[in-house]
Amino acid sequence: MKVLFVSSEAHPLVKTGGLGDVAGALPRSLQAEGVDVRLLLPAYRHVLQQVESTKPLFSMGDLLGTGEVWLLQGYHPQVTVPIWLVDCPALFDRPGGPYQDEEGSDWADNGIRFSLFARAAALLGISGALTGWRPDVLHLNDWQSGFVPLWLKHWGAERPATLFTVHNLQYQGVFPKTLLSEVGLPEHFYSMHGVEYHQQVSMLKAGLYYADQLSTVSPTYANEIQSTEMGEGLDGLLADRSEQLNGVLNGIDTAVWNPQQDESIAKKYSLETLSSRAINKEQLQTTLGVSVNDEAPLFGLVSRLVPQKGVDLLLTVIPEILQRGAQLVVLGSGDSALEQWLLHLQQQWPQQVGVWIGYNEPLAHAMMAGSDVILVPSRFEPCGLTQMYALRYGALPLVRRTGGLADTVDQQSGFLFDDVSSESLAVVLHEAVDSYSDRKLWKQKQQYAMKQALGWERSAKHYIEIYQSLMQVEE
Ligand code: ADP
Ligand code: GLC
Repeated sequence: MKVLFVSSEAHPLVKTGGLGDVAGALPRSLQAEGVDVRLLLPAYRHVLQQVESTKPLFSMGDLLGTGEVWLLQGYHPQVTVPIWLVDCPALFDRPGGPYQDEEGSDWADNGIRFSLFARAAALLGISGALTGWRPDVLHLNDWQSGFVPLWLKHWGAERPATLFTVHNLQYQGVFPKTLLSEVGLPEHFYSMHGVEYHQQVSMLKAGLYYADQLSTVSPTYANEIQSTEMGEGLDGLLADRSEQLNGVLNGIDTAVWNPQQDESIAKKYSLETLSSRAINKEQLQTTLGVSVNDEAPLFGLVSRLVPQKGVDLLLTVIPEILQRGAQLVVLGSGDSALEQWLLHLQQQWPQQVGVWIGYNEPLAHAMMAGSDVILVPSRFEPCGLTQMYALRYGALPLVRRTGGLADTVDQQSGFLFDDVSSESLAVVLHEAVDSYSDRKLWKQKQQYAMKQALGWERSAKHYIEIYQSLMQVEE
């Protein structure tokens, strides 16, 4: 079974959030199950700097008038699956992130960039002759690859099956209507029964509309997005396609996130040596500049600072528990208003609040190893990975019961609240502080958390079942 895994990010080559983690780990698990899988990414400058060497495979021609496009093969010691890169220097070889420039503004030509990426992926799907490798399934991820099924539909050629996975329905890849003609797609796709979305073109909707099968990253989120409240205006389409919509819970990369082998933490530990965790807490308190004190329950937050993550709810009530002697450490970046709020809080509570604004992968590991509680008070959460990292590291997750958080955390392994309100969050924050004083019980909870099975094995098998069902339809 041949699968081309199409993603706009993949750890350790390029990552802005959970999609990067998933695309870094799932292909390897599929490979371990015997799938012949290749990873397709844009050849961003950052990726070209990460891969050890690149080999041009063949020219794909000038696909959209932005210069000749090459398919490159790259190598990286930590990536076991073949890495294919869509190289179009005018679009991808630039400083900054995959979607945004160094100032944090979206690249103005994202519509063109990801139309081209999708077109290249679709071409690889139909033209096995060029590579000698024709995929049976194109596994597409998020809006950046939403146009793949649209190109295939447009060409009408013999094609592989498509599975489109939604990691976050809120990111829709919306562009002006003129994008279609700019990239050479016919206007008739601009329709309610097509890619039209609020008088614009949505790449996410294209994927949802034209892919053969759909999935999202937890069973609960798969249900939630079929409701008006959480469907982002796409609930009708999703409900119509509910037969094809699968909820497949993400796993975590248990090799990368393993407290027994983690080189980024002060002291490695396991379930049996849980007391060594105290050294990591001490180190984290030092790094973030709060007072070193094991008696203080240490709450950690590792997050993009965006409305989705409910950080505003947290900051409204956190003083209540700081007053009780708790501490808060934060690693994140995003909305400047939230960043400012955090920095202000740090000034007010210098001994108890430590804030690191920015992106820092090793520190994310240290946060899991040193925090007593990891906070995930999201308004919605398709799956969420940090609560799973927390479980594995014996930091108890405190989460809102939504999406994948509801599917991965229970009362025995963590703390949950229901309403999107700071009052509900406050109740459970106090509960966590109370629980921390009973260290014996706390340790039992940690042990239970650390025993959870969080790897990719089960979900990789589930994806393979979906691929198989798609291939049967094809035959
Ligand atoms: P999302 O994809 O919505 O951001 P997830 O929980 O699925 O949420 O994944 C977030 C990933 O990004 C995790 O691997 C987390 O550790 C990482 N992350 C988020 N913010 C930072 C940061 N500031 N520094 C390092 N890693 C971060
Ligand atoms: C998205 C979601 C997050 C999920 C991740 C990986 O970024 O916001 O909940 O864990 O994708 O699927």
